[in-house]
Amino acid sequence: MCGIVGYTGHQKAVDVLLDALSSLEYRGYDSSGISIFEGTKIDTIKSLGRLDQLRERIDSQKKVFSGTCGIGHTRWATHGEPSDVNAHPHTTKKLSLVHNGIIENYVQIRQKLQADGYKFVSRTDTETAAHLLDRLYTGDPMGAIRQLCSFLEGSYAFAVLFWDHPGEVYGVCKGCPLIAAKGKEENFLVSDIPAILPYTRDYVLLEEGDLVKITADSILIQDSEGKEKIPNVQQAQWNMEQAQKGGYPHFMLKEIYEQPKALRDTIHPRIVDGLPDFAIEDSIPDGFWRQFDRISIVACGTAWHAGMLGKGLIERLARIPVECEIASEFRYRSPLLDRRTLVILISQSGETADTLAALRLARESGSTTLAVVNVTGSTIAREADYVIHTFAGPEIAVASTKAFSVQLAVMYLIAIKLALAGGRCQPDEARSLIHNLLEAIEATLKVFDLDSAIQKYAQSYVELKDLFFLGRGLDYSLAMEGSLKLKEISYIHCEAYAAGELKHGTISLITPGTPVIALATQDALLSKTLSNVREVISRGAEILLLCKDTFTPESELAGKCILLPALDDLFMPFVGVIALQLLAYHTAVFRDCDVDKPRNLAKSVTVE
Ligand code: F6R
Repeated sequence: MCGIVGYTGHQKAVDVLLDALSSLEYRGYDSSGISIFEGTKIDTIKSLGRLDQLRERIDSQKKVFSGTCGIGHTRWATHGEPSDVNAHPHTTKKLSLVHNGIIENYVQIRQKLQADGYKFVSRTDTETAAHLLDRLYTGDPMGAIRQLCSFLEGSYAFAVLFWDHPGEVYGVCKGCPLIAAKGKEENFLVSDIPAILPYTRDYVLLEEGDLVKITADSILIQDSEGKEKIPNVQQAQWNMEQAQKGGYPHFMLKEIYEQPKALRDTIHPRIVDGLPDFAIEDSIPDGFWRQFDRISIVACGTAWHAGMLGKGLIERLARIPVECEIASEFRYRSPLLDRRTLVILISQSGETADTLAALRLARESGSTTLAVVNVTGSTIAREADYVIHTFAGPEIAVASTKAFSVQLAVMYLIAIKLALAGGRCQPDEARSLIHNLLEAIEATLKVFDLDSAIQKYAQSYVELKDLFFLGRGLDYSLAMEGSLKLKEISYIHCEAYAAGELKHGTISLITPGTPVIALATQDALLSKTLSNVREVISRGAEILLLCKDTFTPESELAGKCILLPALDDLFMPFVGVIALQLLAYHTAVFRDCDVDKPRNLAKSVTVE
C-alpha cells in the first residue's frame, strides 16, 4: 500500500524523506518519488522500483538537494502500471502532490479537465486530483483543498506543497490515515507511525475530513468546515515492528480486519447508477459481455475457491455454463476452448506460474482472457486481453484473506453484468442485487463483534489432528476455503466435503469426538444440511455450526453455533469467510504456529 511522508524542519529533507520512506517499505511498493523545496522552486525526482533505485537516480543525475521541506511517496500501483511517470509526486505549475487511496470518480473529473485543455501524462487517479487542485488554487491552500474534497468521491490522504508557500506542507484525509507528528523545530506529515519513530513519538491522528498545515514550528488542524481544532497529541508506544503491523500481532489479522475497506475500494468505483460498470474503470466495453456462450474460470488455491463461488453465481444469475478449474490441471488436459469462451484468470499476485501458463494457453486457443488481479503491472495483468484490478492493497501474510474477499466481490459484479447483458435480469433486479452486495460489504464489519467468541472455539481446537468441514452449494465452496485456511496455517489436517456426499464413504471416519464444522448459511438448503449435521452428531461428532443469526438452534446445537449477520443467501459468503479466517488465525496462534509465514509456503508461487 502506498506510503506518504512530509517533512519541514532544519534537517536536509532528502535524508529524512528517504529514511522515513524506507521504514514504510514493508507495506509493499513498486515506485517512489520525492519533491523538495529548493529555495522558491520545487524539485521532483521519481523512479520505478525500490528506494535504492531512487537513490541511484539522485546520484546519477548529480542532484543536490539542500532544502529542508518536502514530500515523499512509495506507490503501490492501482490505477496505471508501475512506472516512472505514474509514480508520485504529481506536479503542476502551482503544486506538487502525493496521494494514498482511490478516487472513485476520477474518470469523470479527468474527462472534464481534458475538455478544458488540461494535459495528462499519467494514467493515475492522483494526477486528476493534482490538476483539479491546481485549477481551484488562487492563493489560499486550505480553501482550495477544502474545495477539492467537495468534488472527490472515494478515499484519500494527500500531502501537498504549493510553489508559493515554501516551508509549508499541507494535507487532508478521508478514509485513509494521515498523521501529523511533532518534533523539535521540525514537523512531519505521514501515513503511518513507523515513518516517524526515529524522530519523535508525539503525534496527532487526523480525523475524517481534517485539513492540516505544518511548518517547522507549528501544526494547524482544521475540520472540514474550516474550524480550527486543538491538536490531541498522543505518544506512540509501539516499537518499529508493532507499528508496521498497525498494532496487530500479525499481518494476517491486520489484513482480515482490512476487508471492509478493501471491498469498498474495489466495488464502489465500479458502480454507476446502481449498476455494475467496467467501462469506466477497466475500459471493458458494455458489448463485451454479450459475446460468450461458455466461461472457464482458472486459478489456484484460495483464488480457485473464489472462482468456485463465482461459478455458482454466474450460473445462477446469468445462466451461462461455467467450468472452474485448478490452473495446474487445466493447462495439461487440452481444454476445449474457442473464441466464444471467456477465460477468467483469478490471481492475487498476478505471477502464479500455472495460472500464467493457463492464460497463455487460452490466448493461443483463440479465447478471450479476462484477468482479475490484485497486483497492477504483474505478468498476468499485462498479458491478459482485459483486466479487472482488485484494490485490496498488498497482502503480506502468506495466507490469502482480503484478496479472496475482493476477488469474490468482483465475481458478483461479473455475474450481475453477464445477467444483464444476456437479458436474464432487468436493471431494477440488478440494482437490488447491487444493493444487497453493498449491504453485505457493510455487514462484514459486524463479524468482528464475533471475534472473541470465535477465539474460544479456536482454543478448543488446539490439540486437534483432524477436522471436517461440510457445506452445500455456495457453502461447499466456502468450506473448501475454510479448510485450506485452517490447514495451511495451523497444520491441522482438514477435509472439506459436500454435505450430501459424506455418506458415500467418508462418514466412516466420523467417530465419537470427531470435530466437524458445518456451514449452513443458505436458507434454501438449510433443512438438507441440518439432516447431514444430525447424521454426524448421531455418530458422536463434535459439531460447530455456522449459520444466520435468524436461525434458532435446536437443543443439541445450543452453544455450538457461530451466528452470522443474516443476509440474502447469495451474499452470505462475505460474512462466512471472515468467521472462518478468524477461526483459522486464532487456532494457529494458540498452536504457536508462524502465522504470517507458514512452513513450506511462499507468497507468490512462480514455479510449477
Ligand atoms: C492460500 C493462498 C494460496 C494462493 C494461491 C494462488 O491462502 O494464498 O492458495 O491463493 O497460491 O495465488 P495467486 O492468487 O497469487 O495466484
